[in-house]
Amino acid sequence: MARTLDSVEMNKIVSLCKRRGFIFQSSEIYGGLASTYDYGPLGIEMKRNIRDSWWRRFIQDRDDMVGIESAILMHPQVWVASGHAGTFSDPLVECKSCHHRFRADHVSSKACPDCGGEFTEARNFNLMLKTFLGPVEDTASQTYLRPETAQGIFVNFQNVLTSTRKRLPFGIGQIGKSFRNEITTGNFTFRTREFEQMEIEFFVRPGTDEKWHQKWIDEFMQWFVDLGVRPNRLRLRPHSSEELSHYSKGTSDIEYSFAWGWGELMGIANRTDFDLKAHSENSGVRLDYFDDEIEDPEQKHYIPYVIEPALGVDRALLVFLFDAYDEEEIAGGDTRVVLHFHPSVAPIKVAVLPLSRNERLVPKAREVYDLVRSRFVTQYDDSQSIGRRYRRQDEIGTPLAVTVDFQTLDEDNAVTIRDRDTMEQIRVPIAELLDTLQERLKI
Ligand code: GAP
Repeated sequence: MARTLDSVEMNKIVSLCKRRGFIFQSSEIYGGLASTYDYGPLGIEMKRNIRDSWWRRFIQDRDDMVGIESAILMHPQVWVASGHAGTFSDPLVECKSCHHRFRADHVSSKACPDCGGEFTEARNFNLMLKTFLGPVEDTASQTYLRPETAQGIFVNFQNVLTSTRKRLPFGIGQIGKSFRNEITTGNFTFRTREFEQMEIEFFVRPGTDEKWHQKWIDEFMQWFVDLGVRPNRLRLRPHSSEELSHYSKGTSDIEYSFAWGWGELMGIANRTDFDLKAHSENSGVRLDYFDDEIEDPEQKHYIPYVIEPALGVDRALLVFLFDAYDEEEIAGGDTRVVLHFHPSVAPIKVAVLPLSRNERLVPKAREVYDLVRSRFVTQYDDSQSIGRRYRRQDEIGTPLAVTVDFQTLDEDNAVTIRDRDTMEQIRVPIAELLDTLQERLKI
């Protein structure tokens, strides 16, 4: 349905997230830890929905994909081979007066935006977070919290190939935490130091890489649209040659139109054979592929090219929140805040609301609640007026509300289903309730 609001300011999203239990500042009772966030009861349901939708669509429903879960801590040589130890850095400038630090490419003037002071020369600042394994904190025990999940896939390429007997083209996906000591954070969960990624490394025969790059761009654009994101809020932006990561032949970002402008939602990169080649050279283990469909014996062994669709779970969740948020005028001059979530993304699918706490109504309402929760994530709410309870469910994006009233008990053994978006109500016999909910939610 058409949304009323064209764009929503960040402070409204942040305040709704805290008020309703989507996202909290981490360690808040100690004053918070900069740029780290905790997911509350509704936030974590939503995160699970995003992960589940990605996993089903891109791993389980495809014959050419498998999943893995690799460790966050990896051998330090991984980061030397991948290029992260040498080149995964941002240019940092520091103000000589207030000592605030900025990413050189994020400040437009030559003076400090906080106090007007002069900047130091830019120096490169490595973004990997260091840690030590074992009791001695020396260079021999130093390693890193991974800055991307991708490398856990590359180092397992041969393991997966041998154990699954997959043939090219095929891909490996994983979901997990990554860490970066970002210089500039902010915009809520848009750029944080700890975040979760959903990454795919899709291995292809060289020469077919550009075709697969485009296919994966189309796949992901469609996934966002299928999950309800407005297409006119999405765009594709190819990277300029100066912007490309050290490993990439070509990267396109899918961007979303946030209140502050277009921002990266995900990147889809053509990583060529950079990573497998680098790990092969550094480890001494052959990471090539034997292609029995190629006639020429000289060409049968090669290192596959890789297409990498890389997306942040937190970034996707923020986009779903921004895109769904609306404020609508309703009867009586009131305004309702509503999240028009796609049912697959919505943290709660159905609310069961008894008309009141009347002792005759409660047992029937609990019976309906038990029935509905057997199939859908459901919330039972019996406090305050029914109107206020509808508003509360609208604000957390619950697609359907089921109301149990005296007519249910005394007349028809039926309930009312109210639609979040149209606010229309229909009467349905309890015997048909689950099927009707299923039909309307389409999940
Ligand atoms: N393996 C490739 C890679 O990591 P990236 O563009 O640096 O590429 C991929 O990251 C995605 O991960 C981004 O498009 C974004 O969705 C998410 N992401 C990256 N850094 C992030 C951060 N600091 N906070 C939140 N999400 C982040």
